[in-house]
Amino acid sequence: MSAFPQPELDQRLAAILAISQKMNSQRDLSALLDLIAREATSLLDCERASIFLLDRERNELWSKVALGSEEILRFDARRGIAGNTALTGNTINVRDAYSDPRFYTAIDDRTGYRTRNVLAVAVRNQHGDILGAFEALNKRSGVFGARDEESLAALASHAAVAIETAQLIGELRRNQDELTQQNAHLWREVENRYASHGIIGTGQRIQQIVRLVERIRDSVVNVLITGESGTGKELAAKALHYNSPRARKPFIALNCAALPETLLESELFGIEKGVATGVNSRVGQFQKADGGTLFLDEIGDLSLTAQAKILRVLQERVLERVGGRGPIAVDVRLLAATNKDLEAEIAKGTFREDLYYRIKVIHLHMPPLREIREEIPLLSNHFLKEYCRETGRGDMEFAPVVLRKLVSAPWPGNVRQLRNEVMRLAACARLNVIDEEDLWEGIPSPGRDQPATQPVRLQSLKKAVAEMEQRMIAEALQETRSNQQQAARLLGLSRQGLINKMKRYSIGG
Ligand SMILES: Nc1ncnc2c1ncn2[C@@H]1O[C@H](COP(=O)(O)OP(=O)(O)OP(=O)(O)O)[C@@H](O)[C@H]1O
Ligand SMILES: [Mg+2]
Repeated sequence: MSAFPQPELDQRLAAILAISQKMNSQRDLSALLDLIAREATSLLDCERASIFLLDRERNELWSKVALGSEEILRFDARRGIAGNTALTGNTINVRDAYSDPRFYTAIDDRTGYRTRNVLAVAVRNQHGDILGAFEALNKRSGVFGARDEESLAALASHAAVAIETAQLIGELRRNQDELTQQNAHLWREVENRYASHGIIGTGQRIQQIVRLVERIRDSVVNVLITGESGTGKELAAKALHYNSPRARKPFIALNCAALPETLLESELFGIEKGVATGVNSRVGQFQKADGGTLFLDEIGDLSLTAQAKILRVLQERVLERVGGRGPIAVDVRLLAATNKDLEAEIAKGTFREDLYYRIKVIHLHMPPLREIREEIPLLSNHFLKEYCRETGRGDMEFAPVVLRKLVSAPWPGNVRQLRNEVMRLAACARLNVIDEEDLWEGIPSPGRDQPATQPVRLQSLKKAVAEMEQRMIAEALQETRSNQQQAARLLGLSRQGLINKMKRYSIGG
């Protein structure tokens, strides 16, 4: 039974409904808390009202200090009348606050307000979980009665829905902001990596490639990239894409040699649902690259049927899915790579000449490493830096003898092989200067057969001494099982002197 006579009840209900509508359109939690407080004050004809929300992780209640303020009041949830309500779910109506032992006077002290009487009800969501407490202070005339209790409880249940929605939206917004930030950061990373091409080399052959990438950066012509395995074809394709007007659209790479003929077409063009039993529809790589770039690696391995279809996409800018019901428009820039001699394939009848000219508007040839040996020191140092950056290891460098050996090795696997070898050397190196002893039999080094004693190296005395010091320190540490005191004695150093040197050379104790 309600404590209200019928007409008054109708009036109150109507007021609560109106408030509830207002609350549901407020999505910002802080503004919502203000709104609820303001409406409750006028509905209950009291001086103040506030919602205390329960922070379960810290077992604290928090609330805004005052209407319109962003300052937050936090206190132990086991304290005060609001805390009692939030933990027990009970409604508490206190006529004289200062004579009630549950009353927490510190809040009045903090806010400078003088509480006379208090009404607190629990704020529960639809599952009955308590979100906090709703508190009204100082009824303007007299004390809070049963009608006020009912009204505040009704308001609290509407408030709970609005609060949960606002909290969820706030969380989604924060997540979205975080993702947007991360995304922008990743874009900068990708752009930094490829905008300066990522193509390393100061010699004429590589510089020609770099200049070409720059020259065609505003156009979206199709480019054929040729070269042996591991010469940087994919790197060049990415440089072309990330330096083009399509940089922020997808770059999709597909290796034509990796897929059997039967799967390749559906992979490229997509497939319609139900072409065969159990087949779901799938978007093809061409469509995924729409607006961006499709990089077809090993294009020389495409079947004649697939070649004909690709030609159609390039000519008419439409494609047809396997089992499709009609053409789909796409706008794709094609970059293709191969290590085959396509002109020989044309002569054999295994590659279409018309497709060849379509994809080879511009031809980029990546030279094998043996033809650009002058780049090996630069490339090796570049990969070594990359290793140090990625692993967080201190700066490392190559002893000149190692660089000389790297330059003269045959490198059948080209730049990729060089990169792998540098990574391996860096990972296995005992000191920060990679020296001859770190070279491994696996390195395709003609220097392997050379006598162990090398001619006097052409390098600065300072560097030679540094190398010698590092080696001696490492040996002493090994011999003494990392006992710094003993190692220092062996080396004729004080312990602190040894520690200083280990720091300088980033040698771990
Ligand atoms: N000029 C260069 N500057 C910097 N890095 C390079 C250069 N050339 C190649 N690389 C690196 O060598 C590795 C192999 O390059 P990439 O994968 O582009 O070669 P690929 O020609 O596509 O090889 P494959 O034919 O085997 O697919 C990559 O790590 C790439 O970054
Ligand atoms: Mg490749």
